[in-house]
Amino acid sequence: MKKQSTEFFLSEIKRLKAEKNAIILAHYYQTGDIQDIADFIGDSLALSQKAASNSADIILFAGVKFMAETAKILAPEKKVLLPDMNAGCSLADSCKAVDFELFIKNNPGRTVVSYVNTTAEIKALSDIICTSSNAVQIVESLPAKEKIIFAPDRNLGNYVLNKTGRDIIIWNGTCHVHEEFSLEAILKLKRENPDSKIIVHPECELPVRMVADYIGSTSALLSYTGKDSAKCYIVATEVGIIHQMIKENPHKTYIPAPPRDSTCACSECSYMKLITIEKIYYTLLNEEPEIFVDKSILLKAQKPIRRMMEISEKLGL
Ligand code: 13P
Ligand code: SF4
Repeated sequence: MKKQSTEFFLSEIKRLKAEKNAIILAHYYQTGDIQDIADFIGDSLALSQKAASNSADIILFAGVKFMAETAKILAPEKKVLLPDMNAGCSLADSCKAVDFELFIKNNPGRTVVSYVNTTAEIKALSDIICTSSNAVQIVESLPAKEKIIFAPDRNLGNYVLNKTGRDIIIWNGTCHVHEEFSLEAILKLKRENPDSKIIVHPECELPVRMVADYIGSTSALLSYTGKDSAKCYIVATEVGIIHQMIKENPHKTYIPAPPRDSTCACSECSYMKLITIEKIYYTLLNEEPEIFVDKSILLKAQKPIRRMMEISEKLGL
């Protein structure tokens, strides 16, 4: 079979989107070509907000499975497509519903705050969801006497605990990208570029967070580089965000923070990178793979996500 050109895929995606009233929502960790064809690019919070309010019949999610599931939970009447069902998440995988249920049972009387990077089943077991954009504010919105379970990211949980001083016990999960940054390599880069600033995602380990000039979610890092006066940044999060940083502020320099294992492309999320332009085309054409969420799980998971969105809206996040 003849291999089609990139131009063919791009123009067919455009045509199919219009014909089917479909939109493409893409996370900042997608490759630059996908970010450039998306109707909307954002971090986890912004993508959930967009999924909940748009007039499309089909949402094609260029991201990972928990994000597409969140879109389906928020817009159950829409068809939600994910171009590769293997686009999972090491963090979401680290928290299985059967184990989490037991964890909650063994720690009774605590409010369960779960990060959006979880399966629909974990969300259904939670009282409120958060993203890295609003985790601190979500925890602060709970009455001071409430004791908390935070899952699944131990680094984000530790960041929230340090910021809020609340009584929090934390699930022991991590992200294979954010956990892997090398403190030594970051400090070496800083010595070589003394005027640079180190910007860090809160999913990174404490030693890396401790040397940060700024800590924030993907979109917070992007807007920081826009407002801040430095000319060079060492970026400790998934490299995909650098595409937007260059687009928005091309006169600045962005250096990806290196992983501990210098032979691997660990600062790339291998799950995010499973999505390609070609797969997006075939997914739109065939309207599959489609995301389905069991109805009773969907209804239970809706409540904690909506609770987060109401608080975020109130706080203008
Ligand atoms: P944000 O999109 O909230 O920055 O989260 C980062 C992440 O790891 C998404 O998988
Ligand atoms: Fe999951 Fe980490 Fe990839 Fe985000 S970057 S999707 S947390 S594995």
